[in-house]
Amino acid sequence: MVAKDEKYQTDALIAEDIDAYLEAHQHKSMLRFITCGSVDDGKSTLIGRLLYDTKMIFEDQLDALEADSKKVGTQGQNIDFALLVDGLAAEREQGITIDVSYRFFTTEKRKFIVADTPGHEQYTRNMVTGASTADLAVILIDARQGVLTQTRRHSYLVKLVGIKHVVLAVNKMDLVGYDQGVFDKIIADYHEFATSIGIDSYTAIPISGLAGDNIAQLSDNTPWYSGQSLLEHLENVQLDVALNQDKAFRMAVQWVNRPNLDFRGFSGQIAAGSVKPGDKVRVVPSGKTSTIKRIVTMDGDLEVAVAGQSVTLTLADEIDCSRGDVIAAAESPPEVADQFETTIVWMSDEPLLPGRSVRMKIGTQTVSAHVQQPKYQIDINSMQHLAAKKLELNSIGVAEVATDKPIVFEPYDSNRDMGGFILIDKNTNATIAAGMIHFSLRRSKNVHWQPVDIDRDAHCRLKNQRPLVLWFTGLSGSGKSTIANEVEKRLHFMNRHTFLLDGDNIRHGLNRDLGFTDADRVENIRRIGEIAKLMTDAGLIVLTAFISPFRAERQMARAMLPDGEFIEVFVDTPLQVAESRDVKGLYKKARSGELKNFTGIDSPYEEPVSAEIRIDTTKMSAREAARHIVNQLFGLDEAD
Ligand code: ADX
Repeated sequence: MVAKDEKYQTDALIAEDIDAYLEAHQHKSMLRFITCGSVDDGKSTLIGRLLYDTKMIFEDQLDALEADSKKVGTQGQNIDFALLVDGLAAEREQGITIDVSYRFFTTEKRKFIVADTPGHEQYTRNMVTGASTADLAVILIDARQGVLTQTRRHSYLVKLVGIKHVVLAVNKMDLVGYDQGVFDKIIADYHEFATSIGIDSYTAIPISGLAGDNIAQLSDNTPWYSGQSLLEHLENVQLDVALNQDKAFRMAVQWVNRPNLDFRGFSGQIAAGSVKPGDKVRVVPSGKTSTIKRIVTMDGDLEVAVAGQSVTLTLADEIDCSRGDVIAAAESPPEVADQFETTIVWMSDEPLLPGRSVRMKIGTQTVSAHVQQPKYQIDINSMQHLAAKKLELNSIGVAEVATDKPIVFEPYDSNRDMGGFILIDKNTNATIAAGMIHFSLRRSKNVHWQPVDIDRDAHCRLKNQRPLVLWFTGLSGSGKSTIANEVEKRLHFMNRHTFLLDGDNIRHGLNRDLGFTDADRVENIRRIGEIAKLMTDAGLIVLTAFISPFRAERQMARAMLPDGEFIEVFVDTPLQVAESRDVKGLYKKARSGELKNFTGIDSPYEEPVSAEIRIDTTKMSAREAARHIVNQLFGLDEAD
């Protein structure tokens, strides 16, 4: 049988007192960590070694492995271990589409979850996913290779996702004769780079995953190394929750508990600090203050609760507080803002389209948001800042983000829970980015909404009409402008106050800086949406005639207006028909390749799924269509 290390031998305890064992096990702290490195650096070997040395491999598996090793006639322990590592590597290859695999092991002191993330460049997304909940990162370096570009890349990502503890595991020391000079040189190289990106402290350990040096126990092969073994270090490192306990109290409300009229409790996990009955707290964003009455848990009331614990708080006063709000120390509440500078890690195959409305989840809050054009993109190989108009899959950039209402946050650097967010595509519900808030923009605090006396209602009363947006959408040459023009004439004769915004015209003035890339079309429609909204505030009936090819932006324009004031009119002309008309000769140019990104040819058009009005221009003339639309608007009989 393989060598056993008494230190991790828990069998005896289990046999003697299973209850005591389970109890001790339950109260052990848990360290989450990631390993960064490519297969060649020995990542599988290291993880295999940790599992092996902590006896996380079941006895029967070991027996089988040992039997196999006897069969092939190789000696003892190494072959068992090699088989195990091969198995892990094979599993990872098969699961190449699995983003991150998690493995569990435990020692007497602590439980561990290690996230094994593929190290290849394309897998930034996976590494960020695995790292976002980790307390510690083990960055593997092959002693023969030294600090490589990928070491820098991994370190940068580790710093980016806010991991406070870094272990530099200089692996394969057996292959360099356990030479201290090699180790020291690598540390010196790494140190310079690490400080340049703001990693102030890290722990360097010379190891051999294959031979087991300095993994579970200190090795005789490195007498010059005076630190701890890797496992000892992992067992003793301070967890993030412990670090957070010294900060000001914050708890995001996950849900409100109201089983009866006498009890109203706010449940959540304490993100930072500690709390006890009698503490003065402030509910953010409302700013209302109260005092903690009770800290309720499944095991009874607590005298005090600290970061990491999930509790239900009751307050002395009946103040407004709902899901997404944050209960915080009254004297030092977190900030509230709606514009931020952030770092964004783009995780979607579709590139970032600045200005597109997306869903943002930050802690327990969910809001609509949009990312502006990146200020720059970061080349994670050279750390250079590059100009960028958009962000592609796995790229990282710095960009401003605006939310549609103020959110409670803290800079990511000081609180990962309250400063980290994800972005979600509103149509597909897919996670498209992860982000970290640096700070709020001063303008978000200094620009306030100015109330005016002559408001929307006043404008509408004077014009004696209800404002509306008639949003025409369809291919180029589908007939949007012509029909919109006819509709406006009719409305005008009916003494309605109208205004027609037309794509070709607006692109000569306000939007002349925009072309026809996806990103520019998004911005085109965002601006039109905003103008249309302002015009409805002036009491007007607004007609817009833009291709507006993307559902997301039409949805965004719709969301800006009160229910019922946005009427989507789909001018449904099949591509062949629009192309055969080719009033402006643009389809011909697009087909010949002279004109790029032409809608319907090499740029998409997403048809409306539930437009209020659909016009089939193959069955109706423009005048008939206009009449139909006006009749629909005013609930008139088609025969009128
Ligand atoms: S949108 O896609 O951003 O909504 P918009 O309606 O403003 O487009 O402009 C479309 C008009 O621009 C078309 O009717 C056509 O006359 C002209 N145009 C020029 N280049 C293109 C192109 N690549 N794709 C579509 N329309 C184009």
